[in-house]
Amino acid sequence: MKILVVGSGGREHAITWRLAQDKARHELFCAPGNAGTAALATNVAIGAEDVEGVTAWAAANRPDLVVVGPEAPLVKGLVDALDKIGVAAFGPVAAGARMEGSKRFAKEVMKAAGVPTGMAETFTDAAAAKAALPAFGLPVVIKADGLAAGKGVVVAETAAQAEAAIDDMLVANKFGAAGAEVLVEEFLHGEECSILALVDGERAVLLPSSQDHKRVFDGDKGPNTGGMGAYSPAPVVTADKLPAIKEKIILPVLRELKKRGITYRGILYAGLMVNDENSNPHGPLAKSGSSVNVVEFNARFGDPETEAVLPRIGGDFATALLHAATGCLRDEDVTVKDECAATVIVASGGYPGSYEKGKEIAGLEGNPALVFHCGTKRTDDGKVLTSGGRVLSVTGLGPDLRSAVDAAYAGVERISFENSFHRSDIAHRAFERG
Ligand code: AMP
Ligand code: GLY
Repeated sequence: MKILVVGSGGREHAITWRLAQDKARHELFCAPGNAGTAALATNVAIGAEDVEGVTAWAAANRPDLVVVGPEAPLVKGLVDALDKIGVAAFGPVAAGARMEGSKRFAKEVMKAAGVPTGMAETFTDAAAAKAALPAFGLPVVIKADGLAAGKGVVVAETAAQAEAAIDDMLVANKFGAAGAEVLVEEFLHGEECSILALVDGERAVLLPSSQDHKRVFDGDKGPNTGGMGAYSPAPVVTADKLPAIKEKIILPVLRELKKRGITYRGILYAGLMVNDENSNPHGPLAKSGSSVNVVEFNARFGDPETEAVLPRIGGDFATALLHAATGCLRDEDVTVKDECAATVIVASGGYPGSYEKGKEIAGLEGNPALVFHCGTKRTDDGKVLTSGGRVLSVTGLGPDLRSAVDAAYAGVERISFENSFHRSDIAHRAFERG
């Protein structure tokens, strides 16, 4: 197959790498890709958010499939544009990508579909939002409706923090249009995990569970990031929960979207809160009766979850993606290898705040781990330089989680660039479970 992968991060390198593992040989392109994808595919100098540019390339080159990595081009209608020119595209149309692009819309869909989630109310008026706070208890979660680069969510421990977050969004317009509406949402207790479901509009195949590490420092301290590491499977998702996740969360959402005229294809990523202890005094457990509640949906593969999940998937990956994109997904399209995976992000000093770019990276050649590039650039003389906050995603595999984590860190130890850092406790929650 001739396939274009859109995006330039670790997720897109992992997708491209996994496509290159298929027994069938594919002709692979990335727009714009990075130094890692350049070794597997032809990088095309078109930005991931350049909907017109990507569509024009697809019209001229007629790929069999376009796989869209990030959310921004999905929300901007890249898949709609590709549909119009008759090119198969993996990812939801813009109306479907609102499951990620608008938290209010996602809540409406969940409510209509009976999907377990925290209760929430939407406001455009700061005074009204503040007046509603006491009903939610503390902590309480304040969320900008729209895309705010992962920064639009505040978990407020006190009423003063909640009020300040409401003012930031509704009065000071900190997030512009994305924060013109805010959700006040019930805080959910428990442990988070990610389920990426491959979906074709009607059917769904759950990919293996995973868990991300959002905070920058060990012990889940410091500010939120795009993700500092991940592992798969996540033991918090016990096998007995999977049928309910599919039947009570993923499929009802697809049916509800269909009712609204939206055929949702691609990945439906459910960020879930699992609470087996039923210990939430104000929480939705009593209301929804569910120990698994939805925190958020994303309209795409997670990053860095993808770097841990895809190496575990067997079968012909291109066929699985094409079947999802064209409405004929089958359970047999995905097989899961009996291996664990862990991925460690190596980042630039200062991230998620400001950081320097252009540092030369050593230790990529002959690295024993799978090294996916997140923010890198290759120079004309063959050096690889840092070009982002998250620089590399280093994945180890093994028969159990401990050996997967060890394999990932063995890879990380070989890598060096000025001011690099990484978390050293990836998968700690799994190990704490024993
Ligand atoms: P979101 O962008 O909605 O995924 O929110 C970012 C992060 O904020 C999540 O990954 C959670 O860690 C946290 N969060 C969001 N909503 C809630 C909630 N209702 N209860 C507890 N934590 C939440
Ligand atoms: N790892 C979180 C995300 O992709 O949104």
